[in-house]
Amino acid sequence: MKVKKAVIPAAGFGTRFLPATKAVPKEMLPIVDTPTIQYIVREAADAGIEDLLIITSRGKDAIVNHFDDAYELESVLERGGKTDLLGAVKDVCGKMNIYFTRQREQKGLGHAILCAKSFVGSEPFAVMLGDDVIAGNTPCIGQLTAQYEKYGATILGVQRVGMENVSKYGIVACDFERGKIHKVTDMTEKPQPKDAPSDMAVLGRYVITPAIFECIEKTGAGALGEIQLTDALVRLAEAEDVYAYEFDGKRYDIGNKLGFLQATVDFALARDDLGDDFRKYLKSLEL
Ligand code: G1P
Repeated sequence: MKVKKAVIPAAGFGTRFLPATKAVPKEMLPIVDTPTIQYIVREAADAGIEDLLIITSRGKDAIVNHFDDAYELESVLERGGKTDLLGAVKDVCGKMNIYFTRQREQKGLGHAILCAKSFVGSEPFAVMLGDDVIAGNTPCIGQLTAQYEKYGATILGVQRVGMENVSKYGIVACDFERGKIHKVTDMTEKPQPKDAPSDMAVLGRYVITPAIFECIEKTGAGALGEIQLTDALVRLAEAEDVYAYEFDGKRYDIGNKLGFLQATVDFALARDDLGDDFRKYLKSLEL
């Protein structure tokens, strides 16, 4: 079965980027000139996702507006012959159906995903977290949907992060590997290094079977007093196969300021219109 649906949770307050996120959703902060969420939506479109649900919350209407048509602006750009800008404004909008719903209470990632239950129905679906921007030749979520087609089971996108970083992530325990695919036996959310079963972290990309919803409904509050997707995935792994796949690509943690700056520098250097001048500027700095 092909994976055609994806869910992007975008309901968090973005407290790590205050004061910028007081009136602007963190997903709308730009890397160079493109809102971070647009990179994620583009990744979904490039992987052939047809229906996308973005889960927002109060004060995040800018995201909804961003993925709508903007007739007045578009006609001004069209009349002025600014086709590049017109393309940038339209970008992913026409490539898939984009739906929105609100998570009315902030009760954690698991609870946010539960808001997608009726959208998902009985199909496998992708989950893409906005704090993880992944650059590479093949869209990360496309690598996971390809594995889903092979195994017909839940696939978690993982990379090794080093034991010193395990307390920031959902960490998997695995019992065998075949190349880049591992069978998941257990998971733990943000463990201390001494308690971590490995340094293999789930980095914001998942393809999950719809059986997860029943698991979330049975899951109580976990780490940080929130309903954790990780805890529901542990339940799922007891009932059906769950795999971890070591995906290719460079992942940026744009949920923290250093990661955001690293993404900004790398993305600017990779741009045809900016890269050369920006490289010259960086070289001129006496660091
Ligand atoms: C979430 C998940 C965690 C995952 C991480 C990836 O945590 O709960 O399992 O490893 O995203 O970025 P958060 O960073 O939202 O606290």
